Amino acid sequence: EIIVLDFGSQYNQLITRRLRDFGIYSELLPHDISIEKIKEISPKGIIFSGGPNSIYAEGALKVDPGIFELGIPILGICYGMQLMSYYLNGEVEPADNSEYGRADIQVEDQNSVLFSDLPQKEYVWMSHGDLVKQAPEGFTTVASSINCPIAAIANDSKKFYGIQFHAEVRNTQYGLDILRNFAFKVCGAHANWTMDDFIGLQVADIKKTLGDKKVILGLSGGVDSSVTATLLHKAIGNQLTAIFVDHGMLRQNEGDEVMAALKRDLGVNIIRVNAQDRFLGKLAGVTDPEQKRKIIGKEFIEVFNEEAQKLHNVDFLAQGTLYTDVIESGTNTAQTIKSHHNVGGLPKDMHFQLIEPLRKLFKDEVRVLGEKLGIPHDLVWRQPFPGPGLGIRVLGEVTEDKLELVRKSDAILRAEIKNAGLEEEVWQYFTVLPGIKSVGVMGDGRTYDYTIGIRAVISVDGMTADFARLPWDVLQKVSTRINNEVDHVNRVVYDITSKPPSTIEWE
Ligand code: XMP
Repeated sequence: EIIVLDFGSQYNQLITRRLRDFGIYSELLPHDISIEKIKEISPKGIIFSGGPNSIYAEGALKVDPGIFELGIPILGICYGMQLMSYYLNGEVEPADNSEYGRADIQVEDQNSVLFSDLPQKEYVWMSHGDLVKQAPEGFTTVASSINCPIAAIANDSKKFYGIQFHAEVRNTQYGLDILRNFAFKVCGAHANWTMDDFIGLQVADIKKTLGDKKVILGLSGGVDSSVTATLLHKAIGNQLTAIFVDHGMLRQNEGDEVMAALKRDLGVNIIRVNAQDRFLGKLAGVTDPEQKRKIIGKEFIEVFNEEAQKLHNVDFLAQGTLYTDVIESGTNTAQTIKSHHNVGGLPKDMHFQLIEPLRKLFKDEVRVLGEKLGIPHDLVWRQPFPGPGLGIRVLGEVTEDKLELVRKSDAILRAEIKNAGLEEEVWQYFTVLPGIKSVGVMGDGRTYDYTIGIRAVISVDGMTADFARLPWDVLQKVSTRINNEVDHVNRVVYDITSKPPSTIEWE
């Protein structure tokens, strides 16, 4: 219903996401989309996203100017506003002071539809080097800030609007209201889109792309791959084979739970490869954390590859890539922030075409989708779990005995966090085995046994984290239970370091 044209902002898909949250169907489309295509889609409104360049830069991303003749409302955000001004003969020039971050704006015209019912002073998120020096003819300035006298413009008769700030990010106080005003009051969009529609559209799309071809998928038991598997299964049934490599370093009952939820209850065709011995064999005697990670990663790929080769005539490889993975790895228009290796470096000689049905979604949307698809709540809301699993939570050499100490203590910690109702507040929590032994006393006797470390953190994306202030009584209960119930443990410690300087995992 409302299309967003992509000029390369890191936030572009966030705009479509906000619209979807309002219940409006929205898609991100290339900036150079043809006028015919737009007519075919016949959207109720168009939003130009921001972008990293100056409109005067070489290779600056442009639109077909015919877009301004379609009679469709347009909102330009940041670069999008500059672009609109440029095409409609306003003036754009470099700002005296580039602005990055919070700025206060003054709404000049509170009757302006974008700002209707909003206060006169509000803060917004700015991120720009250029600005509109003079609004095009027919436009009025409806908001300003000290460094950016033309912070928002409006041409009500043509229904063209521009805002220099990013309404789509949370740091803009009334950003959602401004987008809502544009969508509903200007464009007259309807709130009738739901995640069920997404499922319907995706299922149709997957069927069309795959026809009767076969697909494989590496299932980790995490949310993304589980949702991808379930969605594909809904579309193409047993043309999908999911391969679940149990490397023996999963949490307690994890393998069985994943199999039960996806295979038994949802009918997904899964091959479980029990490769515990194989992995532990390769890890024997290895103590260096990086080497451990490399061995686990490489072995994973080998097992997956062997299984894939046993299935004949597979054309597609499905992956649970999310929008955040896509945008941070760089797209045609957005700059690269960092590269994610979602495939974990699958060998180049695997000649598969990729299918990534979640690549337009954010993590929390994937969770909603997962629940809609009938995946159990606990699996959908599972905390992040690293690919190398408990292998990097047993410090130093990994043995089955040591894994068992981590598995048991981790299960206790998880149970007590759940009992305390803290599951959704703490971002990630687990136990580690540092491998040191210390002296204790149990009954009347001396013990010389292992220490278990508890790690619990609050984070948004795992890039930085703060240690969680777990209540003392929860910690006490966990400590008592671990000491009592896990053999060969006589001491429990709590990690009170943030990231940085530590990392979340200990290896
Ligand atoms: P660190 O320890 O680097 O972890 O602070 C940040 C987040 O990433 C997870 N993590 C991994 N996830 N494969 C993954 O899929 C890995 O190799 C890996 N290593 C760490 C970690 O659990 C935390 O959530």
